[in-house]
Amino acid sequence: MKFELPRLLYAVEALAPAIGKETVEFHYGKHFLTYINNLNGLIQGTKFEHSDLETIVRESDGAIFNNAGQVWNHDIYFRTLSPFPKPEPSGKLLEAIKKSFGSFSDFKEEFSRSALSLFGSGWTWLYKKDDGTLAISQEQNAGNPIHSRMGTPLIGCDVWEHSYYLDYRNKRVDYIANYWKILDWKAIEDIFVK
Ligand SMILES: [Fe+2]
Repeated sequence: MKFELPRLLYAVEALAPAIGKETVEFHYGKHFLTYINNLNGLIQGTKFEHSDLETIVRESDGAIFNNAGQVWNHDIYFRTLSPFPKPEPSGKLLEAIKKSFGSFSDFKEEFSRSALSLFGSGWTWLYKKDDGTLAISQEQNAGNPIHSRMGTPLIGCDVWEHSYYLDYRNKRVDYIANYWKILDWKAIEDIFVK
């Protein structure tokens, strides 16, 4: 199976000032594309040559997983950002957030703390467990809740430096504060109800 760069749903400059044009050009157009090209090369002649992406993410390790994980992670990352985001969750997703974290603001605080405290490169996730409750996890490098078999990812916040350094230099805290402003809860609700 040959993987291709998914279409970006907005213009490269559309997320500014939260995430600037140059960051999207590099992050989407170079980093994300490189993971896809690497994956296509690495799976040739292996048992994953004809597998779908989720199967590879779940079952691979080493270099194949590193690239497959990053392809999956960057797809949800860019897909859940928008220049015209739904600013807050509603309905069943809001109920699940309240049940699991107390309130929407408690959830945001806990998620931000997780993203800020992750050492080195990785991702903070909101995911749905098999029992329907929600949880937050930190994963190093390309890790995600599919690979670690914890549940269904709903939000993936990329805290690799390549996602914020051009805009915020070393101030990850400012990147996270502005990440909330472009996070589209409509896209997340669509994943939640699937
Ligand atoms: Fe990234």
